[in-house]
Amino acid sequence: MDESAAILTPVFTAGQIARRVAELGSEINAAYGQEPLLAICVLKGAFMFFSDLARHIENPGLELDFVRLASYGMNSKSSKHIIFSKDIELDILGKNVLIVEDIVDSGHTMKFLIDQLGARKPKSVAVAALVDKKERREADLEVAFAGFCLPAGFIVGYGMDYAEHFRNLPEICELQMPSEGHF
Ligand code: IMP
Ligand code: MG
Repeated sequence: MDESAAILTPVFTAGQIARRVAELGSEINAAYGQEPLLAICVLKGAFMFFSDLARHIENPGLELDFVRLASYGMNSKSSKHIIFSKDIELDILGKNVLIVEDIVDSGHTMKFLIDQLGARKPKSVAVAALVDKKERREADLEVAFAGFCLPAGFIVGYGMDYAEHFRNLPEICELQMPSEGHF
């Protein structure tokens, strides 16, 4: 791809993200109090959100783990075949689990993960998503802690990529590639 041809339009600034992530941390603190909590980062897209959010969770019993999922499908819209390419390492039996994801779009990826982790008998499973594209939802699931809601558009930055590019941007931008049309 030719990244230099990309048109990046800022959607949320670094300051807006920082403020919203701090608010989400407060919501999570209010919901769980001092109850033990295991936060699971969905790699790679959530890595920056996860590291910032974790610093706002005031819970001495907080544990952190990481999962990576791979999906195979004909296109990005169809329901996909999803596998763990990296599983978590901690035992979740009887624990409150908070899945931390970059974007919930159709919801198929998150539904798969909730079902897989739910089968391991945690005490609870909830989802924190930086961006909730809830108008596009196909799977039935609840995002308990949503940073921002967006109806449409393909976004990159603050951990999120297009073909592994743009993850390092400190702000969230909408991406258009002139040669490839609109997302
Ligand atoms: P879902 O299974 O349709 O909910 O897809 C969710 C996954 O698609 C997210 O974890 C992202 O990795 C990816 N995704 C969806 N929308 C975007 C976007 O606008 N930018 C970057 N990745 C996206
Ligand atoms: Mg993702």
